[in-house]
Amino acid sequence: MKRFLAVLICLGWSSIVLGAAGGVAPLEARIDIEDSPSLQRGAQLYVNYCLGCHSLSYMRYDRVGRDLGLDAKQTEENLLFASDRITEPMNISMPPEKAAKWFGVAPPDLSLIARSRGADWLYSYLVTFYSDPDPSRPFKVNNVMFGDVGMPHVLQGLQGVQEYIPGDIPNEATNIQPVGLEIRADDILVRKSATMPDGSHVEILDTLKVVQAGEMDPSIYRSAMRDLVNFLVYVGEPARLERQALGFWVVLFLVFFTVLLRALYKEYWRDVH
Ligand code: HEC
Repeated sequence: MKRFLAVLICLGWSSIVLGAAGGVAPLEARIDIEDSPSLQRGAQLYVNYCLGCHSLSYMRYDRVGRDLGLDAKQTEENLLFASDRITEPMNISMPPEKAAKWFGVAPPDLSLIARSRGADWLYSYLVTFYSDPDPSRPFKVNNVMFGDVGMPHVLQGLQGVQEYIPGDIPNEATNIQPVGLEIRADDILVRKSATMPDGSHVEILDTLKVVQAGEMDPSIYRSAMRDLVNFLVYVGEPARLERQALGFWVVLFLVFFTVLLRALYKEYWRDVH
């Protein structure tokens, strides 16, 4: 009977939480792709915490190092695992069939993830893992942006244990819909809207709260996730860095050319007037 009740409570609990999994508007990542120190920190986080499972097979270490302003030695020291050569693509050694067996689904290559998901989604995904007591969850975690995600919360050591605290739902409220996320001090709020019998709407606020501290304070963790997303955005379109650098010279040339033309124009018309 006790077990039956426990399962019932878990089921009810996860259905409340799962309500948040749908079309939640993400937080704003506010990244800056020209911020090299941020890109370097992001790359380091990536090789330490993500590359074990997710390859970036379109990127080579030496290219990443150069783009991020590191020389060959720094690239080797900061980004390279012992077995890799600097000219190799950023692959993983885990065979995909094994990975699929361990996680239920093979961890995808993340070369283009920033293009398909967008920076805001990625940032929100990385900050909204929470512990989920549901016995059906293999790693005892879930995620607001990606309901029933197959990935363990590999950054829990940094973030700490985050819990999902559902807000009060008024009696008779129906049609509860997730609306968006919001940061309030150390917590992340999940806004939901519900409809009352008289047709009016009420707001329900669920809270994601770190209940067991990790190595980083919540604001520091969020800033580290911004660095990581920044790096993934760069990886999604490495040419953007070059283009932005080139853009500066193009604009400078145009300004110079305009001044030259103006001088020429004056010179031509001087004799006419
Ligand atoms: C232990 C292996 C493992 C590690 C380490 C890991 N992931 Fe994952 N990740 C997975 C698996 C498995 C999935 C597939 C989840 C699913 O589809 O349910 C996944 C999915 C994802 C997705 C969603 C992809 C999609 O389909 O939209 C993103 C984004 C992601 N991971 C980012 C990261 C980042 C960033 C890191 C480093 C902080 C990381 N992962 C570390 C195993 C891992």
